[in-house]
Amino acid sequence: MDNKIIVTDSASGKSIELPIQHGTYGPAVFDISRIYQSLNYFTYDPGYQVTASCRSTITYIDGEKGELYYRGYPIEQLAEHSNFMEVAYLLMYGELPLTQQSADFTKIISRHSMFNEGLKRFYDGFYHDAHPMAIMIGVVGSLSAFYHDSTDIYNPQHREIAAHRLIAKMPTIAAGCYKHSIGEPFVYPDNSLSYTGNLLHMMFSMPTETYQVDPIAEQALDLIFILHADHEQNASTSTVRLAGSSQANPFACIASGIAALWGPAHGGANEAVLRMLNEIGQVEHIPKFISRAKDKNDPFRLMGFGHRVYKNYDPRARIVRDTCHEVLAKLGNSNDPLLKLAMALEEAALLDDYFIEHKLYPNVDFYSGLIYKALGIPENMFTVMFAVARTVGWVAQWMEMIAEPTRRIGRPRQLYVGPARRDYPKEAVRE
Ligand code: SDX
Repeated sequence: MDNKIIVTDSASGKSIELPIQHGTYGPAVFDISRIYQSLNYFTYDPGYQVTASCRSTITYIDGEKGELYYRGYPIEQLAEHSNFMEVAYLLMYGELPLTQQSADFTKIISRHSMFNEGLKRFYDGFYHDAHPMAIMIGVVGSLSAFYHDSTDIYNPQHREIAAHRLIAKMPTIAAGCYKHSIGEPFVYPDNSLSYTGNLLHMMFSMPTETYQVDPIAEQALDLIFILHADHEQNASTSTVRLAGSSQANPFACIASGIAALWGPAHGGANEAVLRMLNEIGQVEHIPKFISRAKDKNDPFRLMGFGHRVYKNYDPRARIVRDTCHEVLAKLGNSNDPLLKLAMALEEAALLDDYFIEHKLYPNVDFYSGLIYKALGIPENMFTVMFAVARTVGWVAQWMEMIAEPTRRIGRPRQLYVGPARRDYPKEAVRE
């Protein structure tokens, strides 16, 4: 007999049979969209812990096993054999590119790497110490002013060009945030360089001297960007989808994703991890911070630990940790005290009953900041790096959502627990 989900309201005796849908992997879903009209109930799932918001073919996470797949390819294999531009193509188009497709795609992306000169004046409105994520939100959102009338989101070619522009311009905008913060002149993209080589060039080269991209840094960044490219319906991707469901300009949608990513509970955790490690300071202080993290009365949490979906080691964290050791050794600072502190903290937490019971493991943000720091990237730019990489996933998910024939505006309901109806007071003066 086919499995059925039947919901019965014992008060009214009414029942409804809910259709079940099975995916390639993961839990099957039952469609609740008819519950209100049949039983006059809404469903309730704050934080969307067990609610599927969409059907997607892009990324799959097995949280129990700690596995991650982009378009069916295991992240470990992509990390070992692929590169960020190829992964960007895979996430956008669903298949690995043929050699010529890869060359064409890389060329198109590099051709869109500059932005309108007028946009530079936008940076001047920010103090030099403005957080780069605040600048990113503003500058990326303002791109919608340059590409609004020419973007018909129902035209697949327009969607593709918008995606190319966003992927291409994020490194240039990100580097501009860094240059603005240190008062140095912006550096134009050099399209003879790789995607990550260009980003390093625009961040660290100076008009006064020749700059040579360090291949170690270039490859490390390329790998980190692969790991950060997409991750199912996380908070920032869901924000992009929700903004896109109103048919908003794609540049404005990505700006909303950047805003959501900024929070320390999400992409802002990589910056928060470094701040936490500096606060802990030394290995001897670890037990005190572990107990603070377990204390319900203390808001302190172990940043870079825990995940809504992974109840096992985040596969990305494992790759970043190994890369961290390699990069620091190659750059000659394998004795970075913060790396030793991070490893001691991870070891202590993984042995602690509370973390074991709560299935709290290091996530992608735990070690990534140590690599950024080794590459000379300042802490306040860590989440900007995450945003550059995740733009590929955001645009892929946005394209999938817009092309969905049954797409409708996202509009959650609520359980209203506010005041009952009441009349405006007649007396003019209220004591
Ligand atoms: C990212 O969704 C994604 O895919 C995100 C991401 C992506 O690629 O897009 O993977 C990127 O955002 C990674 C997560 C980065 N954030 C952090 O490292 C911040 C620290 N972690 C947490 O704040 C927390 O773990 C979250 C936000 C990541 C997950 O929060 P949940 O799923 O809502 O879990 P929860 O807050 O309900 O915690 C469940 C329990 C609680 O204890 P109880 O009240 O049940 O006793 O676990 C505890 C929490 O107190 N807990 C922690 C903890 N994380 C959860 N306790 C101490 N330290 C932590 N880090």
